[in-house]
Amino acid sequence: MAGKKIEKDTTGSPLEAHVASSKILAEHIDKIYTSGKKSTKAIEDVSIDIQDNDFVCIVGPSGCGKSTLLRMLAGLDFPSAGNIIIDDRKVTGPGPDRGMVFQTYTLFPWMTVEDNIKFGLKLKKLPKDEQQEIADRYLDIIGLKKFAKSYPKELSGGMKQRVAIARALANKPEVLLMDEPFGALDPHTKSMMQLLMREIWEKEHPTVVFITHDIDEAVFLADKIYVMSARPGKVIKEVNVYLPHKRRLELKDTPEFINIRKGINDLLYSANQDAEEE
Ligand SMILES: Nc1ncnc2c1ncn2[C@@H]1O[C@H](COP(=O)(O)OP(=O)(O)O)[C@@H](O)[C@H]1O
Ligand SMILES: [Mg+2]
Repeated sequence: MAGKKIEKDTTGSPLEAHVASSKILAEHIDKIYTSGKKSTKAIEDVSIDIQDNDFVCIVGPSGCGKSTLLRMLAGLDFPSAGNIIIDDRKVTGPGPDRGMVFQTYTLFPWMTVEDNIKFGLKLKKLPKDEQQEIADRYLDIIGLKKFAKSYPKELSGGMKQRVAIARALANKPEVLLMDEPFGALDPHTKSMMQLLMREIWEKEHPTVVFITHDIDEAVFLADKIYVMSARPGKVIKEVNVYLPHKRRLELKDTPEFINIRKGINDLLYSANQDAEEE
């Protein structure tokens, strides 16, 4: 495995050329949380390899360490063992190359929709007309042009989440890290958001790491799925989703889709049975 040869790098200098093809590489990651005498192994020996422009989902039961893994990719937390490498550099903290979208709505309530989307652009001190251009473009993509001057409290959950996605995309991150962003939405809105997310990805092609415990959602969105089991979280399978590039909601009723979903469901069910017998 290529990963074994990677040297420890604390300076952020480029690593060996053989990892150049991976956008995101996590190698043999362990994460142990300690508080007082109690220690919890949240993640054990997790390795993932994501290519540039991939849409990858990580699926697994609640508590299997999905958020922990995503936080480490974001540089908000660090592994107890193993390396996380993005663009051939060890992750040592958060960066503008990575945008995040969480399950809970994280919009600034005192700012209009438009100003929320412009937030990162203002920090970057982009010229005002450029900020406006970018905000308009993403308002159009998320279908909320009419709500540019509205405040978050005037929006539904799905609309707020669309603004959060637009805000992340407006900064042109190379990697979009999403932690159950549609987890709090009703089923219909959730489906619409999945469709929109896939359409956005087709237009913009960011590398997406999307966390969910919803297998149906993972199969619909991803080209590759890492399936994790609980206690401690391990990757039990990597599934390549060979479904049409352009996804339509009707796809969910096709035998191909149902088959992949069932395979993952069965896998998680048997992993859970094994864990209960231990
Ligand atoms: N800051 C923390 N301190 C201690 N334990 C934590 C912390 N964050 C998460 N955990 C534990 O790590 C495990 C994985 O949590 P998490 O990554 O949130 O799982 P998931 O997102 O898959 O539901 C859980 O057992 C959780 O209780
Ligand atoms: Mg979580």
